[in-house]
Amino acid sequence: MEFSYLCKKGCLACVAAALFFVCIQSAAVVANSGRYVGSDACADCHEEQYENYKKFSKKAHSGESVKIMAGDLTPSELKECYTCHVTGYGKPGGFVSFEETPAMADAGCEACHGPGYDHIEADGDPELIKGTLQVSDCETCHNAERVAAFDYKPLLYGGAH
Ligand code: HEC
Ligand code: HEC
Ligand code: HEC
Ligand code: HEC
Repeated sequence: MEFSYLCKKGCLACVAAALFFVCIQSAAVVANSGRYVGSDACADCHEEQYENYKKFSKKAHSGESVKIMAGDLTPSELKECYTCHVTGYGKPGGFVSFEETPAMADAGCEACHGPGYDHIEADGDPELIKGTLQVSDCETCHNAERVAAFDYKPLLYGGAH
């Protein structure tokens, strides 16, 4: 009698604990959905793109371009620079400051491909990342104000990897 009572109680506790962890885990996935994670999180699975980006893309140093001029800028001018020169400024998981979020301090993979959390969480499901890019994906930063003539075709590959 007493034993089966204990067992039942034990089992229920187990089930409750298991449910609790499943709940926290899925809550964490939902809470993180759509987050920016930074280019280093892509390196293991996309080594070639990562190496090429680090070596050849000026974007891999685009935070530095702002940092060296920061002393001459007002805080609001500086914020404007961040909208193009770093990753995910003001968005979940994105750049906050050079000190707090060094991994987001350049225009990384996600500047073009969009936030990567869901893609990584689903073991690289290609449906969950922006793979095919349009000129409009570049124009948010390479707009007429910045570049007199943005010749998309050669640049499409030139700026990436
Ligand atoms: C989030 C803003 C942003 C987006 C989106 C963006 N770029 Fe850039 N890109 C930059 C910045 C900032 C630089 C300048 C980096 C520096 O030198 O500080 C740059 C530099 C470049 C350069 C200069 C050469 C080099 O080697 O890096 C090319 C080419 C380029 N981008 C192409 C593209 C193309 C093509 C797209 C779209 C597929 C694109 N960019 C989307 C911000 C962006
Ligand atoms: C609307 C997006 C955008 C904003 C805002 C922006 N930049 Fe840029 N910046 C670019 C792009 C795109 C390039 C590279 C393409 C080009 O040369 O036109 C660039 C290039 C540069 C470069 C030249 C790097 C090189 O190697 O020649 C410097 C320096 C720079 N930006 C600093 C700044 C600073 C400082 C701010 C803020 C006051 C700022 N940018 C704001 C998009 C932006
Ligand atoms: C300047 C924008 C830009 C940046 C930054 C960028 N990519 Fe790309 N990426 C592209 C373009 C453009 C394509 C080709 C898409 C197409 O064929 O339409 C591409 C394609 C890809 C592909 C598909 C396979 C291939 O090579 O064609 C992968 C994987 C990829 N990128 C990963 C990355 C990773 C990882 C990073 C960061 C290390 C990164 N990308 C940074 C623009 C970018
Ligand atoms: C756990 C491994 C893994 C990580 C981490 C990962 N990816 Fe992928 N990625 C994949 C796989 C697998 C594919 C599908 C490859 C294929 O179909 O050839 C893929 C495909 C892609 C594609 C092409 C999508 C398309 O439409 O064809 C892009 C772009 C891409 N990844 C970007 C990124 C970026 C950016 C990051 C970092 C934020 C990242 N990946 C992190 C495994 C990963």
